[in-house]
Amino acid sequence: MSNHPSSRLGDMSGRTAVVSGASSGIGLAIVRRFLEAGATVHGLARRGHLIEERARDAAPEADRLQHHSIDVGDPEAVRDWARGVSGPVDTLVCAAGTNIPERRLAQLTPPAWDSMLATNLSGTFYLLHALLPRLREARGDVVVLSSVAGAWPDHTGPAYQAAKAGLLGLARGAGRDEYGNGIRVCTILPGIVNTPILDDRPEPPPHALRELFVQPQDIAEACLGALTLPKRACVAEMTIVATRLQSMGNTQAATPTLPPAAPDEHRSPVAPGPS
Ligand SMILES: NC(=O)c1ccc[n+]([C@@H]2O[C@H](COP(=O)([O-])OP(=O)(O)OC[C@H]3O[C@@H](n4cnc5c(N)ncnc54)[C@H](OP(=O)(O)O)[C@@H]3O)[C@@H](O)[C@H]2O)c1
Repeated sequence: MSNHPSSRLGDMSGRTAVVSGASSGIGLAIVRRFLEAGATVHGLARRGHLIEERARDAAPEADRLQHHSIDVGDPEAVRDWARGVSGPVDTLVCAAGTNIPERRLAQLTPPAWDSMLATNLSGTFYLLHALLPRLREARGDVVVLSSVAGAWPDHTGPAYQAAKAGLLGLARGAGRDEYGNGIRVCTILPGIVNTPILDDRPEPPPHALRELFVQPQDIAEACLGALTLPKRACVAEMTIVATRLQSMGNTQAATPTLPPAAPDEHRSPVAPGPS
């Protein structure tokens, strides 16, 4: 039997989720999907007001969406915020993340490295650590947004890759330590997803190509599915890549090359990117 308020696939009514990175991209799509599925959501980002602006229409009832302005890389701020959250928390999704244009090894400085690790790796630990007692009480769920960059060599830069590989280790270790307390931990490893983070690349991919990427709503749907599976089943790791542009381990090209269309396939007007 599930410990969750609802055990129907896709139904989050009665559940309370904390989602970081909620003002944009994947985190925002997850907030919206959770609200549609009936959850109460605490959205976290530095620009907390954007969560309200961008997700309110998914939950017209005022009390199911709350937004909070927090830097996840600040452990005291995260701890103090977590102490102030009232009510149960049964779901934590850690989607806050960033990258910088000056990402090549020779460009990275110690402050840039520290800042990248603080947001992309430590921020997830700070949230998980601060909310662990609540998650244990609820026998809840944790979803960590890693990346294929944490599993395969790619172009995203050593600091980003180190953080994303670190998240895999954190999630695996947390899952091992907490399954006895009923906590499921799921790591999502997306390939290229059409979100504003791509604009921080040294050479942002062309907008015309982006519609072929995985969309943030696809990640949100997969996340919802994993979280609402019967509690006996844990989706421990999930790699989601763009069907037409990427395969597992094929992450070397910053801008993927459009493959030739099949004879009976509608030919896209998009020009191939550089490989
Ligand atoms: N897009 C991709 O191709 C891709 C692929 C694999 C993995 N991912 C991962 O997916 C996650 C979501 O990224 P995205 O693509 O949706 O990018 P995005 O659109 O740029 O969103 C990033 C989110 O993280 C928040 N954030 C950044 N730094 C923060 C901080 N210090 N404290 C609190 N919040 C912070 C941002 O909000 P504020 O700026 O308002 O703080 C924003 O809500 C990230 O972990 C990213 O690494 C993305």
